[in-house]
Amino acid sequence: MSRPKVTVVGAGATGATCAEVLAQRDYAEIVLTDIKEGLPQGKALDINQMGPILGFEATVTGTNDYADTAGSDVVVITAGLPRQPGMSRDDLVQTNEKIVKSVTEQIVASSPDAILIILSNPLDAMCHVAKAASGLPKERVFGQAGILDTARYRTFIAWETKASVKDVQALVLGGHGDQMVPVISSTTVGGVPLRKLVSAERIQAMVERTAVGGGEIVKLLGTSAWYAPGAACAQMVDSILLDEKRVLPCTAYLEGEYGIDGLYMGVPVKLGRSGIEEIYEVDLDDEEQAALAKSADAVRDVVGVLAA
Ligand code: LAC
Repeated sequence: MSRPKVTVVGAGATGATCAEVLAQRDYAEIVLTDIKEGLPQGKALDINQMGPILGFEATVTGTNDYADTAGSDVVVITAGLPRQPGMSRDDLVQTNEKIVKSVTEQIVASSPDAILIILSNPLDAMCHVAKAASGLPKERVFGQAGILDTARYRTFIAWETKASVKDVQALVLGGHGDQMVPVISSTTVGGVPLRKLVSAERIQAMVERTAVGGGEIVKLLGTSAWYAPGAACAQMVDSILLDEKRVLPCTAYLEGEYGIDGLYMGVPVKLGRSGIEEIYEVDLDDEEQAALAKSADAVRDVVGVLAA
């Protein structure tokens, strides 16, 4: 049986981490592509050489040629410039719009049946760019942000409660910007509501740290995070290609859900072999509903900056 094919566009730190995590899962053929010569080839070779140590097959190809990506089942687009210190995700909008548009056009030409996962920032706006450039249905073009944002929130909660991160159930909705909405009302630790365990003040501090979680890492490293973002993409690829039907927060095109129309936003979705198979609407309290509307406004502002 042949392996499903995944292309990761962009062999920077995030793309390479996504390829590495997927390689360790050992079920897919992975193509890592980048415009920079040598970079995807070198990283692919290095990842393949982890295989004998960690016990997975060497199935990663590094390339600068889109022809090698042909017939991909899933394509993860990480291409674009990362954030520099002091830069918001939105500052990147027009530079990365050109890159994401061109990449999407080339990908769809050689992989017309692919499902596209977008990771380039500003994420929500780049999903709009990829949807327009690909002409694909919304079920097959969506973004990774919510898994990462939720992972950050869950990490802080695990530290605060000294409970296993595995038992922290949480959800972060909205745009992948500082207005994102961690849903406190549905956050539990092993089914126990967070509000029963942690003071309102401490919860607020964790919510705020989550919202600026990407920026916290940019300040420390001088560039964007890659380990958790790369792993988050790999989790989405798994759910799609293994038809796991995981319910994960992803950036989906909304047409009326949550009272939002014609906009990409982070919401819980079911991911399976056909892409987004269902969008779930959770009950929000008044404060969360207002925060989500504010987040939608922030995304609309960035989408308004797009050239096309
Ligand atoms: C972050 C960047 C990747 O949130 O958006 O770390």
